[in-house]
Amino acid sequence: MNVHSPAPSGNRLPVLQTFIEELREIWGADPDIGSCMEKARGVLEKLVRDPDLKTRSADWPSTEGRKNLLLYVDEEYGFAINAVVRVPGRKGSVHDHAHAWVLYGVLHGSESLERYERIDDRSREGFAQVRMTSVSQGAPGKVDLVPPFDIHAEQGGEGRSVAIILRSCRLGDITQNQYDLETGAIRPGPGPSQIPFELTV
Ligand SMILES: [Fe+2]
Repeated sequence: MNVHSPAPSGNRLPVLQTFIEELREIWGADPDIGSCMEKARGVLEKLVRDPDLKTRSADWPSTEGRKNLLLYVDEEYGFAINAVVRVPGRKGSVHDHAHAWVLYGVLHGSESLERYERIDDRSREGFAQVRMTSVSQGAPGKVDLVPPFDIHAEQGGEGRSVAIILRSCRLGDITQNQYDLETGAIRPGPGPSQIPFELTV
């Protein structure tokens, strides 16, 4: 299996193939990654409102244990498409995604996205004081944009939930920070394990 492109385009699920083609059009016309991600928001909104994809996601495996399903990585532009499947009541860690831009689109169930800001003077190595600034509720069709180094946490809802994530680059090998709210410790570490997952017809 080619880890960069889990499914050959010929038998890839059409709704995913269309999504990829629309993203490639955006990336091909604009060299600014942040701008591409802004433009991709509406494209992801359309994807996560697709009733067939929602039905299809009913048997996707749980990604608990810091895993992501890896649906696609674009070899030319580097963006990656992930899915996450959260268990009911899942407690997410406070973290950033280093230099990656991320769009979260809820496909099924509900989740919330907590955003934090640093309130310390950044003078202590490995230490950060953060405070929550907002919580946004995610429901099917809702998409949130998380810019590079933004501190946040994704929390599960009452039931199982599924989200599609568009990242400006593949995570997993990139060092990201986790923030301990009690001690203030910053814990650098690898991102979520990337589990190749084919979406075919
Ligand atoms: Fe995140």
